[in-house]
Amino acid sequence: MVERTAEPDPAWTAVDSYISDKLLGADAVLAATLAANAAAGLPDIDVSPAQGRMLHVLARMAGARRILEIGTLGGYSTICLARALPDGGRLVSLEIDPHHADIARANIAAAELAAMVDVRTGAALETLDQMIAAGEGPFDLVFIDADKPSNVGYMNAALALSRPGTTIIVDNVVREGGVLDATSDDPRIIGTRALFDMVSQEPRLTATAVQTVGAKKWDGFLLAIVGPAS
Ligand code: SAH
Ligand code: DHB
Ligand code: MG
Repeated sequence: MVERTAEPDPAWTAVDSYISDKLLGADAVLAATLAANAAAGLPDIDVSPAQGRMLHVLARMAGARRILEIGTLGGYSTICLARALPDGGRLVSLEIDPHHADIARANIAAAELAAMVDVRTGAALETLDQMIAAGEGPFDLVFIDADKPSNVGYMNAALALSRPGTTIIVDNVVREGGVLDATSDDPRIIGTRALFDMVSQEPRLTATAVQTVGAKKWDGFLLAIVGPAS
């Protein structure tokens, strides 16, 4: 887990607020989503508003018509991504916790996105195996944000459900610098380091990682495109 015992640096939070106030505007749907999540007791581990907008912008840059998300929680990032879809677009989001999935479906319906979004309940590695066996895909963009020990498995599944040019984004790959701890016994750190090792050896991916600070403290995204580096 990204430790949340300490508060983020106040300057990071202030700049995050500045960015949100200037560029994001009021968003009653996303505010209602966060309120519903809190009322339902969901953990406060959604992407931040500015990160949600980043996902939205990346999906539009990619021209994504089919999006796969692994880790729904209450659907905050789901809504940010689904709003990027054109008419006829589809988003599939995978969630293991039926309570989270129920809250997400309600939030997605309130966002008037239910027709384009399919929240599937179950252990994502199993759902992904079924999707691969059924020949689902290719997806244009995959957002991986579930249990961190499974990230190598999720990246392999994302590749199986991809085409050349697919965008793959993984959340929480810096973990307040925890990624540097080669002797960590935290399965989340071990999983994150295994992901970097796998991506570094994977000729089908061109990747980088971007560190972020803000209301969600110090963390980062891995950003990849399916296709060799040129
Ligand atoms: N993407 C969300 C946050 C996801 S939090 C957002 O930014 O709004 C991570 C979610 O992954 C949690 O809801 C958790 O229940 C789910 N999860 C954990 N392990 C999982 C698994 N094995 N399969 C599917 N979902 C899982
Ligand atoms: C955790 C998970 C997340 O996806 C995230 O963005 C932040 C924290 C966690 O498991 O602690
Ligand atoms: Mg996350």
